[in-house]
Amino acid sequence: MIEHDILIVGGGLTGLRAAVGLCDRFNVGLISKVYPVRSHSIAAQGGINAPLANNPDSRDDSWEKHTFDTVKGSDYLADQDAAEIMCREAAPIVYEMEHWGCPFSRLPDGTIAQRPFGGAGYPRTCYSADITGHVLLNTLYERAVAKGVKIYPEWFVAALCIEDGRCHGVVAMDTHSGELVPARAKATFFGTGGYGRVYQHSTNALINTGSGIGMAYKAGVPLKDMEFVQFHPTSLIGTNILMTEGCRGEGAYLLNNQGERFMQRYVPTAMELAPRDIVSRCIQTEMNEGRGFDHPLGKHVHLDLRHLGEQKIQERLPGIRKICIDFIGIDPVFEPIPVMPGQHYSMGGIDVNGRCASEVRGFYAGGECSCVSVHGANRLGGNSLLETIVFGKIAARAILEDLEGGAPEPETKPLLRLKDEVEAKIQRLTGPGREKPYLLQAELSAVMSGKVGIFRTREAMEQALQTLLEAKERYRNVGVPSPARYMNYELTNALELEYMLEVVHTTILGALLREESRGAHFRLDFPDRNDRDWLKHTIARMGADGQPVISSKEVVITRYEPKERKY
Ligand code: FUM
Repeated sequence: MIEHDILIVGGGLTGLRAAVGLCDRFNVGLISKVYPVRSHSIAAQGGINAPLANNPDSRDDSWEKHTFDTVKGSDYLADQDAAEIMCREAAPIVYEMEHWGCPFSRLPDGTIAQRPFGGAGYPRTCYSADITGHVLLNTLYERAVAKGVKIYPEWFVAALCIEDGRCHGVVAMDTHSGELVPARAKATFFGTGGYGRVYQHSTNALINTGSGIGMAYKAGVPLKDMEFVQFHPTSLIGTNILMTEGCRGEGAYLLNNQGERFMQRYVPTAMELAPRDIVSRCIQTEMNEGRGFDHPLGKHVHLDLRHLGEQKIQERLPGIRKICIDFIGIDPVFEPIPVMPGQHYSMGGIDVNGRCASEVRGFYAGGECSCVSVHGANRLGGNSLLETIVFGKIAARAILEDLEGGAPEPETKPLLRLKDEVEAKIQRLTGPGREKPYLLQAELSAVMSGKVGIFRTREAMEQALQTLLEAKERYRNVGVPSPARYMNYELTNALELEYMLEVVHTTILGALLREESRGAHFRLDFPDRNDRDWLKHTIARMGADGQPVISSKEVVITRYEPKERKY
């Protein structure tokens, strides 16, 4: 048994920022299934939004304008009080990271550089070339280490312990020894990331299985807005590695097989810098209507950087250049990049309030695994890095308040019972089962990409639901041949798959129920937004029979009356 005042699960930006905010006052343990600097936050490229007004074109930017852009970008589904909190905190948090040593790119006057991003009224995205997540993560990791946060790297959390309406901690596996360890804490915080890998074509790291979300759901915590899944317009064909929106922010064009800048036909004012949901639909439409390029690795359009010139590409987008050379043998200085939309971000997640508190006492969540909701139906590029750090900080503040207010002692017995349950599950999974977890996951994610993607219909989603229900049956026969516990990724993947199935189930059901089109959720059979019936969040809760029960929750509207979203 390990014991801390506070357990943080997830070594990405949210988890590290929460840990840094708590460790001076409390004994904090941070569990991460990978070394923290290998968390998916490292992959964020283009930048973090904050209305610093440094760029000559953004002198009259403000947190109010940032909030408005965020709410409009969300297709009015964001809770406006929460979006306001995030945007008010944006400038202070970027300066805090700067003071902690984060090496942002600079303007000639020495201030933090900002580039334009989609759906933003001003160049507001602060960046460090195209490795912004990398520099932010290393800065926070160093700070967490310097402050003595106890880190459990390569520990896999197998289950969340909630009993009698409160959280007692988690059961984790030290993958180095294979030992199952109950971890007890007064407060447990999840910063476990999104569910990108339930899709086949995703910019996400393989670790982004959404297991933290599924785990919370199975333990009784409701999920919110699971149907809202973001597809980034530009991922490299084949691997679906992110080709940052920063490319378009720096002036790159999107071209179809006629050599046409097709965004001119769809959104002539915003062009390539329309919000992501819109640009992704435009690209998909071009490909569906025969104006894409064919390639063995997939249909695509071109992202053309050539007119930016080698110097600018090398200075602002060196990572993109290197990825293209290494992964597809194309140098974007001389050739356009073949891109297609790829799943990128989960707007939905664990239902928490603006303090990152769930309805279960002692359980909190922040960042992509959570849904506050600041992004509503569509997140703006650059608001994700912002969310991770702001809500890591806010969660720390909330947990401090709650613990100082006197939190009940967590109990040991529920944790020991849960440990036995996990042990029994592992026993069941190890052996000669007919189903391979990785094949089942691959089939499921292909169905999600094909049938619950950018354009959705009832018919296709009902087929996906059928596949999911069969997959749940098939999961009973999953077998992991090696009983080894030491670094047995097939075993931990099999454990995660159970949670992924729940994530998929709630995503499909939410998408089937929401008979409208809003933000990233586009129903060909219901192509209009319907505020009368659907200006609300969906809430998915596991019923007593293990089936999801969907209800709804009001959207918080403060300053901005929902209007038609035009760019
Ligand atoms: O395109 C990008 O660099 C991604 C940024 C984001 O998702 O916020």
